Order: sequence, then C-alpha cells, then structure tokens
Amino acid sequence: MPLSLDIEDRDALCDYLWRTGRVPADVAPQMHVLAGGVSNRTVLVRAPGICWVLKQALAQLRVAVEWHSDPRRIEREAVGLQVLAALTPHGTVPELVFVDAAHHLLAMQAVAEPHRNWKQLLLAGQLDASLVAQWATLLGQIHVASHAQAAQLAVTLDDRRFFESLRLEPYYGYAATQVPAAADALGALIAETRQVRLALVHGDYSPKNVLIHAGRVVLLDHEVIHWGDPAFDVGFALTHLLGKANHLAPQRAAFAAAAQHAWACYAAAVALRFGAALEVRVVRHLAACLLARVDGRSPLEYLAPDARARQRRAALRLFARPPSSVAAAIDCVIEELEHD
Ligand SMILES: Nc1ncnc2c1ncn2[C@@H]1O[C@H](COP(=O)(O)OP(=O)(O)O)[C@@H](O)[C@H]1O
Ligand SMILES: [Mg+2]
Repeated sequence: MPLSLDIEDRDALCDYLWRTGRVPADVAPQMHVLAGGVSNRTVLVRAPGICWVLKQALAQLRVAVEWHSDPRRIEREAVGLQVLAALTPHGTVPELVFVDAAHHLLAMQAVAEPHRNWKQLLLAGQLDASLVAQWATLLGQIHVASHAQAAQLAVTLDDRRFFESLRLEPYYGYAATQVPAAADALGALIAETRQVRLALVHGDYSPKNVLIHAGRVVLLDHEVIHWGDPAFDVGFALTHLLGKANHLAPQRAAFAAAAQHAWACYAAAVALRFGAALEVRVVRHLAACLLARVDGRSPLEYLAPDARARQRRAALRLFARPPSSVAAAIDCVIEELEHD
C-alpha cells in the first residue's frame, strides 16, 4: 500500500478502507471532506453501522507562511483522545476507532448531527453563558483529574515536542522576535513553562476546536497535549474570549463578562489545587497569548489592523504592570480595548 495515501482522494480512501477491512468490500462508503482545519485533512466516512471522521496529519500546514510539522503528531492526538476519554464524562471527546501510524491517520466516531462549531456561533454573536461555564469548568476538571493521576500521566504525556514546535516557538518565540519590548518577558515565560510540570495541558483549548451537540461541549484536536503548566490552557482560552471582545465591539461587555465568568468557573473547579502561583502564571500566559495571536506566526484571522494594535497594547500593559489577579487582568485588557 502506498504510504502517500491522501484521504481527500475518494478512490484512494475507498481502496484503503476496503483493503484494510475497515469497510466490507461490497459496501461503497460515503465520504465528505470536512473544512475547518489547516494542519490536517478531515473526512467524514459513512457506511451502514459506520459514522467516522478520519483525520490525517499534514507535514506542511495549509497556512500563508511555510510551516512544517512532523505528521507523527497524529499519534500524540490518539493518545490525547484516549487519556481525555478516561478523565471526562462520556461524550466529551469522540471515541477513538483506530490509529494508522504509517499513514499518519486516525479514525474517531463522528460527533452526531446536528452540531455547531462554537467559534462560528461566538463570531455570530451567539454567546451562551451556560456553554462558557461548561467549557471552563471542564478545563478545570481535566487539570485536576489529571493532576490526581500525575505518576502515570506525567509519563504518558511526557513528550512535548509538538507543544514546543507548534506553540512555544511559533507563538511565544516568534512574537519575541517581532516585539522587542516583550522579548525578555516571553523568553522568561518560555523557560518557566518548560519547568512547570503539573497537569495535562490540552494546548489548543479554543472555541474552534469545540462542537456543540445537544447543549454539550465536545472537545476536538489534541495534537499538542502534554504534561505541563495548566496556566497555559487558561491564558490561551481566555485570549479567545477577549479576542472576540476586541473584534465585536457592540458585544464587548458581554464577552468581557464571559471571560470573567470563565475564569470564575475554572477557579471554582480547580479550587486552589495548583496554589496561588497559578494565577500569576495565568496572567503571564494571557499577556503572551494576546500578543502571540497578533504578532506570532498564527494571528487571529478575524482581527482588523486597528484591533491588532489594541490587543498588542493590552498585552504589553499586562507585561509591564502585571495585575495581581486574573479578574483585574481581564478588566485591564478591556480598558485598553476601549481606548482607540
Ligand atoms: N469527530 C468529529 N466529528 C465531527 N466533526 C469533526 C470531528 N473531528 C473533526 N471534525 C471537523 O473537522 C474540523 C477539523 O478538525 P480538527 O480536529 O480541529 O483538525 P485541525 O487540527 O486540522 O484543526 C473540526 O472543526 C470539525 O468541524
Ligand atoms: Mg482544529
């Protein structure tokens, strides 16, 4: 079998599914290429008794700049799916069906229809406080549950290569080269992040990777999952709500309230398990992610140039005069976003 299988090629995928016995040879599966991802191919496969999403990691990401990443990260994602399935209520992540490391692909159960992508709902102004609470509480529960199994999960999730190459370098490292005023702070934060090993870190806890089905949050996309600093996930996640507060001026107050609510729900779920120092690091990661999503290699595509400038200013203010609480940091960001 050629190792160059492209799952978006219908004939090739069909042939693969038959030859591997995944689909009976007398059944013609239906296939639909799913849009949305940039670093993977995703294809919905349907046949009697089968409703799967196949995901195949690309070596070269489909972004404007040239960006390569080892497609073996699909194996990391498969580990992530299994670990998260064990830590969360049934249905929180799709069930893994099979992994094929040689073809850099995995199959998982498709999330049932009807479902909506949460980022699309948020950008359309549909901000549901109960979903914000669910999403933030879930993050806290994942951090706490993983921490309770540290002895085992620190080993299973030890590999941080993909977090390094897809987060620390392109987000923090690259932003440091673009914004000299933040270079020292970002350098120190990279070093600190490498030292803190406390919990399962998802690394891509973004509304884009959340499907809403039957009022429930379903998590996708676990390629950069690792054992590390939970503060990263919180700063990263809050950045998505504050990025939308920036972009959607008429709903700024609602998104600011959502960010405060998310932090309160997360903090309640974590209940100081990671000590008071967690909050200090969340403020740093919030500053760093706000900056990275305008000056890193993967800027938020929906932000206009003036919005990028506001977000950069907010991030630099957090670095220069870090507030002592996350709630105060969110207020600070909103205050900067209000000043044109
Ligand atoms: N299990 C699934 N069920 C339904 N849709 C899915 C599933 N997995 C992925 N998708 C769809 O494919 C898109 C891209 O998947 P994702 O895992 O986020 O890949 P990428 O790493 O390329 O961002 C998702 O936004 C979603 O629309
Ligand atoms: Mg994704």
